[in-house]
Amino acid sequence: MAQSQTANKTDSQTGHATAVVGLQWGDEGKGKFVDLLAADHDAVVRYNGGANAGHSVVVNGQRFSLHLMPSGILYPGKLAVVGNGVVVDPDKLLQEIDGLAAKGVNTSGLVVSNRAHVVMPYHKAEDEAREELMKAKRAAQAGSGALSEIGTTRRGIGPCYAEKIQRAMAIRIGDLLKPAILKERVELACEAKRHMFHGLVTSPDSFDASKVLAQATAAGERLRPAIKDTTYLLHGLLADGKRILFEGANGTLLDVDHGTYPFVTSSSTGVAGIGSGTGVPVQRLGRVLGIMKAYSTRVGSGPLPTELFDEAGNRIRERGREYGTTTGRPRRVGWLDLVATKYATMINGTTGLALTMLDVLAGFDEIKVCTAYEIAGHRTEQFVADGVELSSAKPVFETLKGFSEDIGSARRMSDLPAAARGFVDFLQERIGVKADFVSVGPGREQTIQQ
Ligand code: GDP
Ligand code: IMO
Ligand code: MG
Repeated sequence: MAQSQTANKTDSQTGHATAVVGLQWGDEGKGKFVDLLAADHDAVVRYNGGANAGHSVVVNGQRFSLHLMPSGILYPGKLAVVGNGVVVDPDKLLQEIDGLAAKGVNTSGLVVSNRAHVVMPYHKAEDEAREELMKAKRAAQAGSGALSEIGTTRRGIGPCYAEKIQRAMAIRIGDLLKPAILKERVELACEAKRHMFHGLVTSPDSFDASKVLAQATAAGERLRPAIKDTTYLLHGLLADGKRILFEGANGTLLDVDHGTYPFVTSSSTGVAGIGSGTGVPVQRLGRVLGIMKAYSTRVGSGPLPTELFDEAGNRIRERGREYGTTTGRPRRVGWLDLVATKYATMINGTTGLALTMLDVLAGFDEIKVCTAYEIAGHRTEQFVADGVELSSAKPVFETLKGFSEDIGSARRMSDLPAAARGFVDFLQERIGVKADFVSVGPGREQTIQQ
C-alpha cells in the first residue's frame, strides 16, 4: 500500500503536465495542437500574455479564434484556466465568452486566477500612444533602426505588465470584487496617468475614473463565478492524478528575456513562464511540444533574417493565409530559420516537435533553410537575442528539393512525397529532436503522428 502510494506520487509529480510552446515569432499553430492534445488532458492552462494572442482552431470545418480563452474550451467537461501570469482585458474576455456561447460552446469550464492582472482602458491608450509616438519619431529621422515602434497589437499588454512590476496602482482580477480597493486604485491611476500622458493620449474616456470604475465593476460581477485561486486548483488536480496542458502564447523569439529585444512582447513566453505564471513548477512537465512552422513569419517590427520580399514570400503568405488572427495585419514571411528554431528548442527543453504548414510549401522547386548567419563578416550558428544586432545578420541558406503534390490529405509519413519526407528528416536531424507530429492543414484530422 505504502509502496503504491509512493509510486503514484512520483508519477503525478513528473508525468502529468504537458506544455505547448511556439518556437518562432508566434502563430506557429499552437492553437491547433493545444486543441488536439486537450482531448487527453483535464485542464488547459494559459500562463502568459493576454489578448495579444490569437489561436485558431478548426473543428469540423468551423474556425474558432481564441485570444484569452484557453483553446481547450472547445471540449466539453475540460477546465480552461487563465493563470496568474496572464494579463486579462475583462471586456475582451467577456466578448469572447459571448461569441463562443453564440456558437453553442459551453464556457462554464473557465476559471480565472484572482491574481491575474487587469488590462485597464488606460493601458490600451498608453500602448497606442507610445506606438504612435515612436512611429512619428522613426518617420522623422533615418536612424540605427533601434528607434522604431514595436508594432504591438495595441492590446495594452506592455503597459499592464509594467504596472504589475511597478505595483502601486496595479489592479488584479480579485480586486474587481473589492469595491473600496478598486475605487481607490482606479481614481489614483486615472489621475496619475492623466498627468503622465498629458498631450499624448487622444481618448479621454480611458482616464475618466467614474467610467473606468463602472466598466470594471460590471465586468467583475459577470466574471465573479469564474474567479478563483488557480494555484491550489492546479496542484489539487495534479495531486488527484489529473492531466494538465499548458498553452503558451506568443513565441519563444518574442520572449522578453530570450527574444529579439526590444522587439518582443512583455512576458516569458516559453516554459520558464509556467512556474511564475501558474505556480506549477516546471519539474512537473513530462512533455514539451515545440510548435514550428516549415517557414518563418513575424508580425510587427524587428529582425526576421530570412525575410522574403519577392513572389516566393507572397506565395507563402497567400497559401498559408498569413494574416494576423488578432489584428488582421499581413504577416511578414521568410524561409525557415533553423538557427532561431534550434535556439528556441534549447531554451524550452523541447522533447518533441510539431512541424506545421508543410502543405503550404507545396509547389516550390526548391526550399531554402537558413542554417547559419553571417554577421560583420563572421559566420555563426548561434542566435543573437538582440533585435538591433540581429538586424545585420545575413542568412546562410542550404537548399533542399521541393515537392509539387498537394499533401493536405496525407495521414502517414509514407503518404508524403519523398522530398517532403526528406525535408522533415533534415529538420529532425539538424535540430536533434523528433517531430512527433507533422501538420498538413488546419483541421484536427490533417495531422500525421509519428
Ligand atoms: P497560433 O497563434 O500559434 O495558435 O497560430 P495561429 O492560429 O495564429 O495561426 C496559425 C494558422 O495556421 C491558423 O489559421 C491555423 O488554422 C492554421 N494552421 C495550423 N496548422 C496548419 C497547417 O499545418 N497547414 C495550414 N495550411 N494551416 C495550418
Ligand atoms: P500568438 O499567441 C504573433 C507580437 C506583436 C508585436 C510584439 C509585441 O497568436 O502566437 P504586444 O502587443 O504583445 O506588446 O506586441 O509581439 N506578438 C505576436 N505575434 N503572434 C502572437 O501571439 C503575438 N503576440 C504578440 O505583433 O510585434
Ligand atoms: Mg496566433
